Amino acid sequence: MFLVATVLVLKLLLQVEGGCPVKCTCTENSVTCVSRNLEYVPYFESLTNNPLIIDLSGNAISIVDIDDFSFDKSDQVKEIYLNSTQLITIEEKAFEELENLQELYLGDNLLNTLPENFLSNNDNLILLDISNNYFTEMPKITSDSLELLAIAKSGVTKISTDALEGLPNLRVLLLQQNNLKSINPVIFNQMGHLFFVRLAYNPWECNCKTIKLFNYLTGKKFLDLTEPVQCQNADEIFVDIYDYKGVADAFKQECNDANNQFVENELKVKSVERVEKLIDLEDSDVTTVVTSTEECVTQRIDPDYMYFTDFYYSLILCSAIILSLIVGASCGTCLTFRYMNIKMSQTESKNELLSRTDKYEVIFDSS
Ligand SMILES: *[C@@H]1O[C@H](CO)[C@@H](O)[C@H](O)[C@H]1NC(C)=O
Repeated sequence: MFLVATVLVLKLLLQVEGGCPVKCTCTENSVTCVSRNLEYVPYFESLTNNPLIIDLSGNAISIVDIDDFSFDKSDQVKEIYLNSTQLITIEEKAFEELENLQELYLGDNLLNTLPENFLSNNDNLILLDISNNYFTEMPKITSDSLELLAIAKSGVTKISTDALEGLPNLRVLLLQQNNLKSINPVIFNQMGHLFFVRLAYNPWECNCKTIKLFNYLTGKKFLDLTEPVQCQNADEIFVDIYDYKGVADAFKQECNDANNQFVENELKVKSVERVEKLIDLEDSDVTTVVTSTEECVTQRIDPDYMYFTDFYYSLILCSAIILSLIVGASCGTCLTFRYMNIKMSQTESKNELLSRTDKYEVIFDSS
């Protein structure tokens, strides 16, 4: 009798049912407790499955504490979802024992600061999403392995010059829809050629500094050119830095006066012709380009298409089409290839993260 009572009490204390925390649903590889009014991270010690994924999103967990994710099987966990959980505080050592953690989702929370080293022991971390929070200054984070950092829509107004120094492996930085007016290009100095940043929909000041910043970024091919390259003018209207009549020109003189070394728009960002075509960044652009290229190749070898007996004429025509395709689609393609280069697994959530926030008008001519 006493034994039974003890077991019952223990069971209540541990709040578990058959190894799975109450309010959660467990499968062989996941623990899902989405939108279950949880106020704390549940107790995971008794898990009997192999918890690769733990999803706690949509709850009201304001703090992730030091022991919350230290349990027997914590080294198995690869993805943790703590988005939309009203998080305010994350303890520096909260995730320390998650040796194999690859993706951490902390978006849609109330965070305004993060401990710099809260992920420095997670040697396998690749993706961190902290979008939709309340950072005014971009948090400095140290991680040797991190490849994708998303801080979109988080009210970031300032990025210190050493903000990226702790992220030697960073490949994709998503900073769109913040409050950035200017940043020092020095921030990106250490980035290798596979680095890529999104900066659109920030109120960049229309001035020489901004033009230099974007010249630098486009020159290094760091920028996603499928997005508008815009600054906000004195009337608070967004204008295209390169396309719009004379915005770049207007400040050229100023730039020249500043230090005589303004480089002619290295790249003349023509933002690739806009076609009224909404293409989802993730799904369609590669396929479209590949299909069009295939068509071109097919046409070249299919005798029915040899209207022009002059082989060279077709060759030139084809090259022209291929060339315009390359020019037109290079942004989209290289962008996607860069994404594909990222080591992380192609999870639903990653795809969603990359295509989320806005459906950009991806602009390329596949005709
Ligand atoms: C949490 O984030 C993931 C990945 O972005 C998303 O699929 C999921 O819907 C989010 N959960 C909630 C409750 O918003």
